[in-house]
This record gives sequence, C-alpha cells and structure tokens, in this order.
Amino acid sequence: MDFDVLNALLRPRSVAVIGASNTPGKIGYLAAKNLIESDYAGHVYPINPKGDEVLGVRAYPSVLDVPGEIDAAMVVVPAKFVPQVVEACGKKGVRGLIVVASGFSEIGLRDLEEEVVQIAHTYNMGLLGPNIVGVMSNSHHCNASFAPFMPLPGRAAMISQSGALLIAMTVASYTRHVGFDKMISVGNMADVNFADLVSWLDQDDNIACITLYVEGFQNGRRFIEVARRASKPIVALKAGVSAHGAAAAASHTGSMAGSGKVYDAALQQAGVVRASGLNNLFDRTLALSLQPPMLGDNLMVISNGGGVGVLATDAAEYYGIPLRFAPPDLQAELQASVPDFGSVKNPADLTGMGGWPEYLETVRHALRHPWVHGVVVLFCETQRNDPMDIARAIKRAVDESGVTDKPVIVSFIGGEKVETAMQWLVENGLPTYGAPDVAVDAIAALREYARNCMSAMETIVPYQDVDETVARAIIAEARAKKSGALTEFEAKQVFAAYGLPVARTELARTEDEAVALAAQIGYPVVLKILSPDILHKSDAGGVKVNLQDETEVRDAYRAILANAAAYKADAYIEGVLVQEMAPLGTEVILGSVNDSTFGPTMMFGLGGIFVEILKDVTFRVAPISSDQAMKMLVDIKGAPLLAGARGESPRDRVALAEVVSRYSQMIMALGDEIAESDANPVLVYVEGKGVKIVDARIILSA
Ligand code: ACO
Repeated sequence: MDFDVLNALLRPRSVAVIGASNTPGKIGYLAAKNLIESDYAGHVYPINPKGDEVLGVRAYPSVLDVPGEIDAAMVVVPAKFVPQVVEACGKKGVRGLIVVASGFSEIGLRDLEEEVVQIAHTYNMGLLGPNIVGVMSNSHHCNASFAPFMPLPGRAAMISQSGALLIAMTVASYTRHVGFDKMISVGNMADVNFADLVSWLDQDDNIACITLYVEGFQNGRRFIEVARRASKPIVALKAGVSAHGAAAAASHTGSMAGSGKVYDAALQQAGVVRASGLNNLFDRTLALSLQPPMLGDNLMVISNGGGVGVLATDAAEYYGIPLRFAPPDLQAELQASVPDFGSVKNPADLTGMGGWPEYLETVRHALRHPWVHGVVVLFCETQRNDPMDIARAIKRAVDESGVTDKPVIVSFIGGEKVETAMQWLVENGLPTYGAPDVAVDAIAALREYARNCMSAMETIVPYQDVDETVARAIIAEARAKKSGALTEFEAKQVFAAYGLPVARTELARTEDEAVALAAQIGYPVVLKILSPDILHKSDAGGVKVNLQDETEVRDAYRAILANAAAYKADAYIEGVLVQEMAPLGTEVILGSVNDSTFGPTMMFGLGGIFVEILKDVTFRVAPISSDQAMKMLVDIKGAPLLAGARGESPRDRVALAEVVSRYSQMIMALGDEIAESDANPVLVYVEGKGVKIVDARIILSA
C-alpha cells in the first residue's frame, strides 16, 4: 500500500465526515463532534445532504462541493449509499477512506464490499474498514472515530480487528496506565490490512511498540515478511482460532493443522511476541513500549522479602529465563547494602530492613554489572518505608547508572500509596506491576523480543541437488490418470527428487518380478499392495513384513493379492511394492498442509500414539532452514526421546533437521500442486546413522 495513502489515513491534514449529523447520539454526530470539538489542527468538512452547518461548522451537500483538498473521508452513511459516496470521493481526489459503516461482508454482502473497494482502487484511494470505529492519533490530536475518548497518550500503537474492544481499550488505557499514540480499527480489512499498517507504524517516530488484536490475517505470508523486517517490537493477542479445514482434512497433518498451531508457528516466525490474554496484552505492551530488549539470559531480581523473591524465581523458570546465582564480584558489591541475614545471591533480598538507600545502591550496582542483562525490582509495602521514596530511589538508580540498554521492570505490592508510586514509576518510564510473576512475564516479553530479533536475521539457502522437473512430471502423470492423490510409489519418487531418504521401493507386476526385485534390494524385504482403491493397506491384509527368502516372498505375494480381492473385489491393482525392510528406529512423522492463510506449512512430531493421541506436534510455515528445523525438534514435549532419554543413545537430529528442511523446500516449490502430505513413519537412527522414510503420501490440490 502506497505510503501517501497511509499518511492520508493515519495523519490526515483534512478530514471530511460524510454523514455528519446534528442529531445527538448518531454516529455521524459523534464522529463530527470528535473532530470539531478538539485540538485537531486540520480542516474538518462535515458532509450532509441538507448542507447548512453541523455543530457550528459549515457543511456541504457533497465532497464535490468542498473548496479545499480532502486527505481522508470518514464514511458514516448506511452501507447501500457507500458506493456512490466513495465514487464522489474518488472524483474529489480524496486519498484515504475510513469506512465506519457496517453491513458488508460481515453479514454476507461480500459483493457490495468488493464493489466499494473496486471503486476506491479506480481512483487510487486506500480503504480502511468497512465496519470500523475509526482512527485515533494523539500526536496529531486527531480522533477520526466515533469513540468518545482518545486513549492515554503514550508510545504504543494498537491495531484491532474488534471495534468494541478498541473503544473499551481507549478508556482501559487510563486505568491500566498503558499509553497509546495511535489506535486503529481495521474491521473487515477489505483493503488496508495489518501488514500495511505495521509497515507504516514501523517508520513513525512516535511509536515504540505495535500492539495487535488479531482474529485472522488474509495474506499471512505478507504479514510474516513485514513483521520480520519491522524494527520495533510487535505484540499480538490472537483470538478466534478455528478448526477450519480440520474436519475435511485427508491426511494426519491436515487434521492437526486446524488447532491454531499454524498461527502459533507463523507468529513466532514473524518475530511477534505473543500475549496470552487481554490483561497480558496490556502488560506486555507497557514493557515493550517503555523498555529496551533484554539481550541475554541473566536476570537479576532485587526484593525486600523472601516470599516475593521466591514467586519471582518460580515465574522466571516458568517464563524461560531461570535465575542463576550472581557472580562473586557482583555479590561482593551488593553485600554493602544487604544485611547479614539477607541474601546477595539472586534474588538479592534486602529484607524488611531495606529502605530507599539500599534500593538505590543495589539497583545501580546490578545495572552497571556486565553479567546482568535485565533487572526486576520487587517491593512489598512495609511500615518502615514510604513507597514513593522507594520509587524515586529506583528511578534515580536507573538514571545514575547511565545504562540504557538493559530493561528494568518493577513490581510493588501494597495499598493506596503503592498505587500512586506505581503510577509515578510508569509515568517515568519504568513499567510497574502489582505482582512479581506479572513483572517477570513482562521482562520475559523483552527477552522473547530480543530472541526474535536474532532469529529474524537467519537466512535460508535452498538445496541445489533437487530435481523439480522430475517431481512435476510424476505429478502430471498422476493428474493425467485423474488421480487426486499420488500412490505411495509415486509419492516416494517425488520425495526422492528432493533428496529425501526414502526406503528403497520398487514396483513388481508379477510374482517373479517381486522375487527378482527382492534379491536386488536384499533380504529381508516388505511387500505392500499398490492400489488407488485400497488406502488402508494393513486393514486389507495388503502388507507383509520381514520376508527372509524367495519362498516367503512368493507366499506373501499370493496372500496379498488374495486378501486384496477379498477386501475389495473390483479394486484396481497396479502391482505389489517390494521395499527394503528398514531397521527399527525412533518413529517420527513429517507432513504438510497448504494453509489457507499462510500457504505451505510443515508439521513435525513423534509418530504413533504421540501424534494420534497426544497430538504432540509442531508447525512452521515453509521454507525453513535446517537450523530452524533443529528448533522444531525441541519444540515438542517428546523432544527428550530424540535427545537420548533413559540411557538411550541420542538420535541423528542433524540428519533429521536436514530432512525437515528439504521437505519444507519441496512443499514450497510444489505449493501449487501439493495440498497435503505425510511421511509416516519416518525412522530416526542413532547419531551418524541417518533417517529413513518408510511410507509417503501426497494429496494433490484440487
Ligand atoms: N451524503 C452525506 N450524508 C448523507 C448521505 C450522503 N450520501 N446519505 C445520508 N446522509 C446523512 C443522513 O441524512 C444523516 O444525517 P441527518 O442526521 O442530518 O439526517 C446521516 O447521513 C446519517 O444517515 P442515517 O440514515 O441517519 O444513518 P444512521 O446514522 O442511522 O446510520 C451508520 C449510519 C452509522 C453508518 C449505520 O448504517 C451503521 O453502519 N452503523 C454501524 C456502524 C458501526 O458500528 N461501525 C463499527 C463497527 S465496530 C463496533 O462494533 C464498535
């Protein structure tokens, strides 16, 4: 989206309110009032068929009657009039449309919505909405919305897909002491979307953190790209994870993908910090908009009570930044401010004797020490101390330390005096919370952000020893047979074209051929029925394993054909696969779906009951490097089984990660052809012995 258009929408120099009204309570009245009775410095042009004036300002019957230029037009007329209004805006040369009106795709009127967007595009206009509250910008004193209050000023920007929630958040920002420079309602996102807004907000100097309330993306891949490039933290609350597609999915992977895990993966790959709920969204926004990222894992906790220190310690472990003992030289420095019955290890416990001078000294020492990457300061209100004295001491320590690249987060627990001190701390740039675990969660968000920045820098170098032409030829042949899925034999050939280690598999059309192929492959072998009409081969008695010699192969061949005939008399039999009998290994499953939002997406998990019952799987949007695949392997709960649990040798995770990476390259390259796929089971051997794909399945896109 053109930045000129976004400038017009988010920083308009003039706004027309089409549907401005003098009738109190009407949305057109509220919208006009917000702009007219405020410090907004731009021109406001009320548009109303009666002309005259609205709220004392001259009104015009149409935008075409307005003498000056119009950057943005708020459209507050019933949906059926919107096309003609948008047409007039186009003729007038308006750049941005803020379509507040409801009654479009959200009630099934997709055609009307598309018509309006089409008209907007004819005139190079951008359209925010429809079905939105509007846009608010504190730095421009511009409330181009019908929300009665602007949010508490601050350095965050909120983009919300829910209008009601956005209005509630404007007022909640005051009680939560979380400041926003901008609040943007995106509604149906018929045109301007999250990615457009994130890229614009990223270059806005008034913004330090971008906060999202997301129900769904339209073009998930573009969002990932924009978010990965963003230079500011993005924190998102994702709601409304649906089980779309899960019921209809034809593969194992497909049935797992509807669980919201694809969104989890995509947001992680986009480098987005996640929020677990609305409170958490506010808490994390506060930290991310006021404090720098935490560049290492060494968190120092300073408290005046053992209890809160232990709570913070537990929380630190829970949120993935477990506390470590402070190094001896730091402990020695802290000793001067801590009584003998306190502790200098970590948490540093100043005990109930700790007053403002002790807080000042310990916080300053901790911040200046190179070992420390971030500090959480805890304070329990006691008779001995005025909370405001402690607050001032913490702020002074931060200022005097001269350190600006380490986050400091505070938690105060107590009554009214504590409330006042907490607010003062936030106003002075120090995020402060009412509980130690919430403070630790906030600093964990800053750690998560720093880690995300590191992984956003990773690049993916594609494997060159792949043969897309061969893979596409096999798929074309299957399509020519009007087949919606590849046979196991074909799927394995496609996998092999991408350098994936499939167990050697050959097709026999006669018993003698089976015997000859078995001799070539080497005993023991497996025989499997190959028929497009028999999907569940084992159920049909179509699989015989561990065949040791010619006699066993001949017996198995005959038995398989007889079983197939009994199972489905009219089944078309292509032949019998003769396959190398892979030695036992740890079973894993790989798979893919072509997600409607994010496109080709990889799944990895442990096989058997782990996938079927425990659903212990993880996803990544393709393609991924083998380093990223390595991280996928530790994402699942069963990861210790691959690392070598209970005295077993570690499995060949390096080889497995390469296989996952190659697989992701395959589904990306063939994204137009492959709807879903599975490699199941995949056997992983001890380190150095590699991986073997025993069975493969590819379902073609419609
Ligand atoms: N040009 C200029 N003005 C016009 C035009 C036009 N073509 N057509 C009508 N108007 C005027 C009307 O004369 C009226 O002014 P008046 O009060 O002086 O007579 C004004 O525009 C509004 O028109 P109404 O027909 O009175 O429409 P009403 O105000 O009842 O509803 C609205 C319009 C608000 C756009 C409504 O259709 C709507 O969509 N409501 C929902 C909006 C909403 O909630 N959006 C956010 C969703 S998110 C959330 O849930 C918070």
